[in-house]
Amino acid sequence: MSIARTRENARGKTRGFCRACPVCDGRACAGEIPGMGGAGTGASFTRNLAALAALRFRVRLVHEVRAPETSLEVMGFRLSMPLMVAPVGGLSFNLGGPMEEGAYQRAVAEGARAAGITVGTPDAAAPGIFETGLAEAGAPLGGGMLPFVKPWETGLVRERLGKAREAGCAAAAMDLDSVGLVTLRLMQRPCLPKGPRELAGIAAAARELGLRFVLKGLLTPEDALLAVEAGCDGIVVSNHGGRVLDSSPATAEALPAIAAAIKGKAAIFVDGGIRSGGDVLKMLALGADCVMVGRPFTVAAVGGGAEAVAELAEEFRGGLETAMVMTGTASVRSVPPDILLG
Ligand SMILES: Cc1cc2nc3c(=O)[nH]c(=O)nc-3n(C[C@H](O)[C@H](O)[C@H](O)COP(=O)(O)O)c2cc1C
Repeated sequence: MSIARTRENARGKTRGFCRACPVCDGRACAGEIPGMGGAGTGASFTRNLAALAALRFRVRLVHEVRAPETSLEVMGFRLSMPLMVAPVGGLSFNLGGPMEEGAYQRAVAEGARAAGITVGTPDAAAPGIFETGLAEAGAPLGGGMLPFVKPWETGLVRERLGKAREAGCAAAAMDLDSVGLVTLRLMQRPCLPKGPRELAGIAAAARELGLRFVLKGLLTPEDALLAVEAGCDGIVVSNHGGRVLDSSPATAEALPAIAAAIKGKAAIFVDGGIRSGGDVLKMLALGADCVMVGRPFTVAAVGGGAEAVAELAEEFRGGLETAMVMTGTASVRSVPPDILLG
């Protein structure tokens, strides 16, 4: 199915919650939470795309890169390219219930598996969403996904980490920036920040279970260094797709200083506004090891199921390979910053 047709299907099913725009940039849905938008004016969402669009490649054509290497291993995940589907949950209240939560998680995971990549699974105040993600993504992926736990009180976090391990996962994550999420406040389940000691305790609990631990939602080198000191194996540079605070920096703006502080000490993931294979390569040049993409995969899964998810992933791969050849980049495992114009 064409991507335009997939979008049209999705638009019909989400009853106005998502307009499935040709470019998913947060303009039409600004401020819509619950919904698919960014917080407040929506500027943190739209800025993610604008910051990437402002970057340009140094085109290099006199070289021998013909079949660039896109595969990599990151945090124990073997991926055919440096791309994962970001965790997205709460389809009933964010998208008007276009499909069952479980069917969505299954479709995304099946499509990701077909493309040789993996997914993050979500957590929410609504009961059962965390477990549904584990079960439905786990069916095709056999535990090879990355479950995200909200920064609940430590006892509940430990319980969910235990469930992730039982599901066969080798890594788990926490989206600490959900502290700013309005949907949790509306459901009377707000979350609080974690101090360095509490964070170290959670990372240690994950390690005892045999799980690597990733912290999502960081935007400064100070927090990234504290995460590494607390024992996190990876971080996600993220502003939650602009959903947690108006006037956040774009992730492409925040990434270089974070990479300068912790590159090589922990895996660096990044998400927010990544819409093409070229954007993936830009984020690698800014210091990421791997990227995550959220809403476009949601629209694909709702509009065309697993097949459309795999098609979208292949479109990212095509764009990534083209950008690598056009910049003389041989491998995603080592992308020099100077493929971007200064
Ligand atoms: C409807 C919706 C639900 C989300 N649920 C979660 C979640 O449960 N856990 C999480 O870590 N991030 C969640 N996110 C954030 C995404 O994982 C990701 O950070 C963001 O969507 C990336 O930006 P992009 O959509 O522009 O690619 C959600 C985002 C949306 C739009």
